[in-house]
Amino acid sequence: MRMFSDSAKSLLLCASTALFFAGASALAQGAPPPRPWMDTSLSPDQRADLVIKQMTLDEKMNFVHGTGWNGLRADAAIPKGSLGGAGYVEGVPRLGIPGINMADSAVGVRLSAAGSHYATLLPSVIGAACSWDPDALFLYGSVIGRELRDMGYNMSIGGGMDLMREPRNGRNFEYAGEDPLLAGTMVGKLAAGVQSNQVMGDIKHYAFNDQETGRTIVNAIIGQRAARESDLLGFQIALGIAHPAGVMCSYNKDTITPPGGTDWSCENDYLLNQVLKKDFDFKGFVLSDWGGTHSDVHAFTAGLDQEQPGSRYFGDPLEKAIQSGQVPMSRLDDAVHRVLRSMFANGVIDNPPQFQETDPFRGRDDAKHIADESIVLLKNADRILPLSAASVKSIAIIGSHADVGVLSGGGSAQVDAPGGNAVPFRGKKHAGGSNWMEVVYFPSSPLKEIRKDAPDAKVEYDPGIDPAAAAKLAASSQIAIVFVNQWMSEGMDRPTSELPVLDENGKKVDQDALVNAVVAANPHTIVVLETGGPVDMPWADKVQGIVEAWYPGIGGAQSLASILFGQVDPSGRLSVTFAKSDDQLPHPQVPGLHIAAKGSLPEAGFGKETPFDADYTAEGARVGYKWFESEHKTPLFPFGFGLSYTHFEFSGLHVDAAQHTATFTVRNAGVRTGTEIAQVYAVLPASTGENNYRRLVGWDRVALKAGESKTVTVSMNALTLSTFDVGKNDFTMAPGDYQILAGSSSADTPLTATMHVAE
Ligand code: BGC
Repeated sequence: MRMFSDSAKSLLLCASTALFFAGASALAQGAPPPRPWMDTSLSPDQRADLVIKQMTLDEKMNFVHGTGWNGLRADAAIPKGSLGGAGYVEGVPRLGIPGINMADSAVGVRLSAAGSHYATLLPSVIGAACSWDPDALFLYGSVIGRELRDMGYNMSIGGGMDLMREPRNGRNFEYAGEDPLLAGTMVGKLAAGVQSNQVMGDIKHYAFNDQETGRTIVNAIIGQRAARESDLLGFQIALGIAHPAGVMCSYNKDTITPPGGTDWSCENDYLLNQVLKKDFDFKGFVLSDWGGTHSDVHAFTAGLDQEQPGSRYFGDPLEKAIQSGQVPMSRLDDAVHRVLRSMFANGVIDNPPQFQETDPFRGRDDAKHIADESIVLLKNADRILPLSAASVKSIAIIGSHADVGVLSGGGSAQVDAPGGNAVPFRGKKHAGGSNWMEVVYFPSSPLKEIRKDAPDAKVEYDPGIDPAAAAKLAASSQIAIVFVNQWMSEGMDRPTSELPVLDENGKKVDQDALVNAVVAANPHTIVVLETGGPVDMPWADKVQGIVEAWYPGIGGAQSLASILFGQVDPSGRLSVTFAKSDDQLPHPQVPGLHIAAKGSLPEAGFGKETPFDADYTAEGARVGYKWFESEHKTPLFPFGFGLSYTHFEFSGLHVDAAQHTATFTVRNAGVRTGTEIAQVYAVLPASTGENNYRRLVGWDRVALKAGESKTVTVSMNALTLSTFDVGKNDFTMAPGDYQILAGSSSADTPLTATMHVAE
């Protein structure tokens, strides 16, 4: 059948030729070609697949590696399109796909000053987790996301999720404590807050990067069940909340037994393919920690999607393996899909960041709000606190540069201080573009804020270098407030939990001796700690007040003053256990301490040291308070502990086994408004083999006026009521009797009830 006459054919030909030229000229004039993946009614997965169909091999390869060290090293080139943050991945401009600009942003955006930007320093994550307030952590992430957007970044590589197994770990301030439910919830909310700004989020360092000493050579050993019920459970919970774009795999090796075998985290098939991608159903992409990739085909096949920061393995070597068919194209498409679908899912293609000035005051107020909930009152003998502005006559402020600033942590979590470091630093700086070993004080002066709150009192400062001089000022003052600190950073651990005896410039400042001298001169002594994690307090019995402020962020001084003078009731409760001394820990010495001992601030594990193990088999899932309880050890301050200026009573626990809820009443039995963290723990049935310790299963933040009562119903997380069955490769809830406990800390649970789970 003839469908068209010859004349019709020539007409059609003319028309299509005309259309072709019209299209070509539209293209020549810069009109965009049709981009079906920009149809927002399609799912992120459909949109990603449409892009992949158009991509060349080279374009795909660009998605599986970074472009070099960028702003991290002074000698590294900054590619076109990169903002000079920690990482940059080239986009596909011809298809309208932007590059990925990644910024370190664990406690605020890093390297902002290089771009002439202001970035808010938030309180440490370990402190923010002491809020037990998921909304505060969402706010935390939103500040980061908001400021990243303002600076043009479309991905955060913060989100520290490793559990505090090692209290001397230099990075504990970036992490959310020792409990998988608390830490997983907090970090999940943080990453969700980042992503609420249409910036891709990330969770790191997967997995068991629980110490910095020898981090690039250490082999973390742990049983499979214990792994799933501890660190990996934290990741599982956080991933379930945030669905982040990225998971950064860690530097160390892991031996998870069974299935056995030892592999780098970034090429560990069990951790990446089996647990993360299959069991946790993670849809985003796995990126290596910077320099943490060790192979091409092996790593790519084991589930690593993107080498960072360069292309040593996932550049030419991997491309060749793909071209030769050694690695199927489908695996490359899968990796690229994971990146692209994350970009679509987070809106970074539909709504890319717009440059604008960051609002420092909004950031400061948000940081202060989080600090208000992070600071933990650990001791308040004779109700020395809150101080009364009306009656206090004189205060001695001592130590830790409290006249000018608050301490911040180092490494890739460092944030540039506005106006520069508040304290001149003459110590050893890290070679390269960023001074991540610089001890940075932020311009938030406790002295000034305390003076503001006590305008009629004589408030004087002593640097605390000479204990005798400090004691003299303390003796002549009504109240002494001693600030002590422990600076921490990525790339190092403290050799012990004792307070450091050297200051940031290597000058001897024996902080324990300082506190002892001050309290001997004036019994009305309050110690304020600015530490990265728990520390020993040999003077704890002697002083009247102890306040753990962590690294409190740019609103830190205001927040601290609000707590000292009682405008804010302390509502922080410890996200970690404070041991009495290192002898009580599962590892009295940091594994590989011989490496840490080599220098005062060793960049641990980058040398040629012999690999070694951090063997977590004995303690397994019994991290922190679980270890202390099952080993019958009494810590200095237990997990979940913290005082308020009022006190609370608990009554009437009722458990609903079908709903997994615990209902009880909390009453503010004091005369001030305050907030309690009502905590629920469970001891599992004997059949689980894990019945010699309690585990956190839920909590609620309860704000109560004086005399007020509230009945709260706390949902108990099913995963934490379960154990991991290695045979079934799943969590199961054992039948039997569960002891449910409720109260104000892991060590103070006045209410108990039995929950029976039927066969
Ligand atoms: C850290 C990561 C960080 C990366 C990029 C590494 O040294 O372990 O947490 O994101 O550097 O700065």
